[in-house]
Amino acid sequence: MKNGAAVGITPYAAALRDYLAGAGEAALQRAYELGRRGMQEGLGVFDVLAMHQEALETILRETPAEGAGKVAIDAGVFLAESLSPFEMTHRGFREAVTALRHLNQALEESARRIAHALHDEAGQLLVSAHLALQALARDLPPAARARLAEVRRPLEEIEKQLRRLSHELRPTVLDDLGLVPALEYLAQGVSERGGPEIRVEGGGGPRLPEAIETALYRVVQEALSNVVRHAAARRVRVILETGPQAIGCRIADDGKGFDVPAVLSRKGRVGLGLIGMRERINALGGTFAIDCVPGQGTEINIAIPLEGNHADSGTSCG
Ligand SMILES: Nc1ncnc2c1ncn2[C@@H]1O[C@H](COP(=O)(O)OP(=O)(O)OP(=O)(O)O)[C@@H](O)[C@H]1O
Ligand SMILES: [Mg+2]
Repeated sequence: MKNGAAVGITPYAAALRDYLAGAGEAALQRAYELGRRGMQEGLGVFDVLAMHQEALETILRETPAEGAGKVAIDAGVFLAESLSPFEMTHRGFREAVTALRHLNQALEESARRIAHALHDEAGQLLVSAHLALQALARDLPPAARARLAEVRRPLEEIEKQLRRLSHELRPTVLDDLGLVPALEYLAQGVSERGGPEIRVEGGGGPRLPEAIETALYRVVQEALSNVVRHAAARRVRVILETGPQAIGCRIADDGKGFDVPAVLSRKGRVGLGLIGMRERINALGGTFAIDCVPGQGTEINIAIPLEGNHADSGTSCG
């Protein structure tokens, strides 16, 4: 603890003494300010508690026994005031997380709408254009028909691009056929673009709740993108295990692995992939863990309860 600093045991103890001596609201204001500045300087709740404990012990040693009870109670009021900036920040953080979850749902919904519009509506318009060109070709002399082929080629290219964009936004196969076909399609695409060999295993049985299918799809999508970008892996297994109460998902690669605690505590520019994955799983009350043996690969383990059975998430590296 920084003795004598702007926030530390000395100013804390001085403000607490003043409060116990009857300085009232002005001393409570100082408690609040000390808490707020401490938080800005990186102190945590336990640091404030330790400071309080130390200051209170000193004061109690100087206090006659009959006054000790009142001092302890009044000191509790002072402590609560110094902790209130932490409480307010925590509340603000929870509200921000809730707002982000709603925003994420709204984005998924928009992505689905736009993907389906691109796939179905724009796709249908292009089919109509092709049919009209075919009809026109029949009425034209052979030389002019060849010119029409030049119009068809870019139209086919547009169709391909639309399908790709629609799929990247949200694969219609996820909505139409479910998680396993969507993951197989995703895996095939990644492998074909020069990625590792990917096997999708398990996951038979009835369709899962939509929120779980979407979350697992997005998490596997990001995990595979990380494997391609960072792992230098040759093989990946995506294993789904559906139990009566929970669904498990394991994504294991044989790449170079990484130092999980170091990456997660990295300051400055940090990736959003792992944070986003964990947040998606947390939002469903699930658990998210990364197990890494540097040099031997990375394994991501996820479990999501099928009913509102909430659990914590954590990370480990062995
Ligand atoms: N499968 C993996 N193998 C090796 N390293 C990995 C793997 N997955 C993640 N990492 C490491 O963890 C870091 C953080 O991953 P994360 O997905 O959070 O961010 P990013 O991929 O760097 O950026 P972003 O996902 O925001 O585009 C990566 O930069 C990489 O060093
Ligand atoms: Mg990433």
